[in-house]
Amino acid sequence: MMPSYETEYQRSLSDPAGFWAEKADILTWHTPPQKTFSASFHKEDFHIKWYEGGTLNLSENCLDRHLETRSHETALIFEPDVDGPAKTYTFQEMHKEVCQIANHLRGLGIKKGDRVTLYMPMIPEAIFSMLACARIGAIHAVVFGGFSAASLADRLDDCESALLITADQGQRGGKIVPLKENVDKALSLSQKKTVQNVLVFQHTGATVSMEEGRDLYAHALPANADCPAVEMGSEDPLFILYTSGSTGKPKGVLHTTGGYGVYTTHTFKDIFDYKPGERYWCTADVGWITGHSYLVYGPLLNGATLVVHEGVPNYPDAGRIWQIVEKHKVNILYTAPTAIRSLMAKGDAHVTAHDRSSLRILGTVGEPINPTAWTWYKDVVGENRCPVVDTWWQTETGGILISPLPQDPTRQKAGSVTKPFYGIQPALLDEQGQEIEGAGEGALVIKHSWPGQMRTVYGDPDRFFDTYFTTYPGYYFSGDRAMRDEAGDYWIRGRMDDVVNISGHRLGTAEVESALNTHNCISETAVVGIDDPLTSQALMAFVTLKKGKTWDAEAFPNELNHILRDVIGPIAKVKIFVPAGDLPKTRSGKIIRRILRKLSEGQGDQLGDLSTLANPQCVEDIQKTLKVGKSV
Ligand code: WT7
Repeated sequence: MMPSYETEYQRSLSDPAGFWAEKADILTWHTPPQKTFSASFHKEDFHIKWYEGGTLNLSENCLDRHLETRSHETALIFEPDVDGPAKTYTFQEMHKEVCQIANHLRGLGIKKGDRVTLYMPMIPEAIFSMLACARIGAIHAVVFGGFSAASLADRLDDCESALLITADQGQRGGKIVPLKENVDKALSLSQKKTVQNVLVFQHTGATVSMEEGRDLYAHALPANADCPAVEMGSEDPLFILYTSGSTGKPKGVLHTTGGYGVYTTHTFKDIFDYKPGERYWCTADVGWITGHSYLVYGPLLNGATLVVHEGVPNYPDAGRIWQIVEKHKVNILYTAPTAIRSLMAKGDAHVTAHDRSSLRILGTVGEPINPTAWTWYKDVVGENRCPVVDTWWQTETGGILISPLPQDPTRQKAGSVTKPFYGIQPALLDEQGQEIEGAGEGALVIKHSWPGQMRTVYGDPDRFFDTYFTTYPGYYFSGDRAMRDEAGDYWIRGRMDDVVNISGHRLGTAEVESALNTHNCISETAVVGIDDPLTSQALMAFVTLKKGKTWDAEAFPNELNHILRDVIGPIAKVKIFVPAGDLPKTRSGKIIRRILRKLSEGQGDQLGDLSTLANPQCVEDIQKTLKVGKSV
């Protein structure tokens, strides 16, 4: 019999080295690890290392080792944007595709440690390309296909990519995404010009411009499916993934091989209770961490059968997601609260029109899920027979840290992520940085390293330490606030820093402000997140104008959102603009966001002492603007 969660959890804390050494056996290693871990979150000896001495290759673990027993079983089912024939790949076929791409990369001179950026639609080749990089030890950096050319250029420059992999176009909800066109723009914007070649997959078949000598169609290259996997050290980098923080430009979160592999394999196996032969569908895009850990690595390391969908869950109508569940007999579904809320709003008939009897487990991730949406997901979608796993984690954590285990009925609690996974030691800290015992609410930190933890910010190790380990010395600070109830279950409250979560997409207010400030009439902006019933949060921007300029309520909001689209991408869109004469500042000229946040929440009566402000009058003015609804 399986030991209970409590027994296993206690063992993982009392003997982490023994526990995680045993867990490493789930992967196939060339050389077994010598030392399970060595880590310190303190400045003097700051380091994080897992499974040192071990060597392995994750592409081999995802594919080759399944060939012996299940080479002819389905590994991937691809469902196009609009309902049509699905395309399937067996493990054998997928292995061949991956090896061919890996050989293309080698042919283009890519070697272990080189950075390869992917700017891809949600097609099988996106997954194959990631695994092809892993196979030859190249570090993949996937950039979400919804990001703009300027964002892509920034990321190419930051990691000095040698190669860019893309497709002619993508398709999303009936719309064309001009990927290759954006790539051309990005390469002309790139400052460092490190990209030597662009490997292009033909997807829609549209004619796109191809620069001779630089751009190559994948299908035109010689096919060679014999590609041995490179033996990687456990701490060799696997990928970089950019994510927004409270300051500056997005940072390149770096994950390594051994610990990430072990952690994603176990969390996937236990939290989704995966059983061989089951079909698993994660609706996240490969451009996000969910797409890395629980679309590609976690499932494939377990030999799962993946459903991959290029489109969006509600196109052409709100029944599409359930139609796909029925069509492919999906057993496990992993999606986001935003999707659940928007589908719920369209009514139950879209759901009940489709047979969902294959469904066994329902997952959610990305934002707090409100109890109403949770209950709808469980009762209507899952016919009250499928456990819901509300999983809390972050790009930085590599894998799920707090989540129910589906077998445990006491953990079906609407709105709570319940309890930590094995080996994870969360704590809540009060304003003095003291640990709160028992029930309470505070800053959510993690006390001990875990195998899937990020290792550094690419090219900026100081930023890694400063961002996550200085607010509360000795702890990893998540940036989230959480509550723990009497039963010891966790409830995520949201971000405490200047990060805004819109439909599960992370944006730093600093990035948004610096883009808005490029408008020639704008002097200064301050952006805050406001609650939104559908998208969890939305952006509110307080803007001041240059001398002599007046606010144009017709033109400015469009112009400003247009800039955001160009600089960041369509996910960055301000919902409410608030023109202001001045922004509340300290005497040294620093904008006090806390006040703006309170004003945006309609809590102007709870501002506290304003006497230290350089310009207290502006607060009243902003309040008036907000009250008379002059904001647009
Ligand atoms: C932030 C991380 C991890 C995959 C997707 C997002 C929020 C994530 C939950 C949840 C409440 C959640 C947190 C976290 N978040 N999952 N189940 N309940 N909030 O990854 O872009 O790195 O964002 O998403 O605020 O810090 P990410």
